[in-house]
Amino acid sequence: MKTIRKAVFPVGGLGTRFLPATKAIPKEMLPVVDKPLMQYAVEEAYAAGIREMIFVTGRHKRAIEDHFDTAYELEMELEAAGKSALLDLVHSIKPDDMDCVYVRQPRALGLGHAVLCAERLVGDEPFAVLLADDLMMGKDQATGGATVLQQMVQAYESSPGTVLAVQDVPRAETRRYGVVDVHGAAQALAEVFAMVEKPAPDVAPSTLAVAGRYILTPAVFESIRQQPRGAGGEIQLTDGIAALIGKEKVQAFRYEGKRYDCGSKEGFLEATIDLALANAELSGSVRAHLKRLALSS
Ligand code: UTP
Repeated sequence: MKTIRKAVFPVGGLGTRFLPATKAIPKEMLPVVDKPLMQYAVEEAYAAGIREMIFVTGRHKRAIEDHFDTAYELEMELEAAGKSALLDLVHSIKPDDMDCVYVRQPRALGLGHAVLCAERLVGDEPFAVLLADDLMMGKDQATGGATVLQQMVQAYESSPGTVLAVQDVPRAETRRYGVVDVHGAAQALAEVFAMVEKPAPDVAPSTLAVAGRYILTPAVFESIRQQPRGAGGEIQLTDGIAALIGKEKVQAFRYEGKRYDCGSKEGFLEATIDLALANAELSGSVRAHLKRLALSS
């Protein structure tokens, strides 16, 4: 079994739901409390043992590259001012044993197309894909519990093959997701026998929806290439994975934890409130503010 050494972060989307904020920066650089979404996802991959981070970027490459690069001026200022805690914080964004590489997705032709752009950098080995706009908090992660990708890597090691993170969603919302049908739905790791992108509630094969975390095998590249344009005229990752069912093991994994859909304003605000409440420095004042709001409503 090959270990998972590389993670692909597709960040070529247009992020139209967050305009005007996303006119000049990618939505993955929006901060939840004090950290960009991008950094949460990179830290999750690092915690899962991954050291090579591959960013598939669009027009907004600069902000992401700069975030994971050295910032000489800032570091010198902090050092001169004796602000060593802040200096450590800035250094910790990119540990020395972590590599960041960048490839461009010339046009936003869909998530499947973004993954294809990383093919040459990934090579012939299994890899992870993380959509940073899905902010994932593993159960008890703050107190040492496994991150969602860590849980998935463990699942992959117990049963190598494709592993898709899934969660139950209300039937009325299936149109927003890739939806899978599985053998043995009660198990944490179950084999997938059908997968469709954004099905209408009345035709969705189940309510098990794919969240933005995947472990994929290199066979997915050829499979994506063979698919016609899917829903919305985009080159869909879901279609490429669905075509592997029956040829390779494709599995759905019910992770333990919570997903925040930070590609939507509601999910982004929910994450901001929850993470602020979990933040030692902020929880008191945020709680007091929420209490005041509840009393005045
Ligand atoms: P979304 O469906 O959320 O699209 O993409 P979007 O363009 O980013 O955002 P909205 O809907 O306009 O607000 C899901 C994920 O796939 C990536 C996005 O960056 C996001 O992480 N993606 C999507 C690409 O990298 N390239 C694409 O061509 C499309």
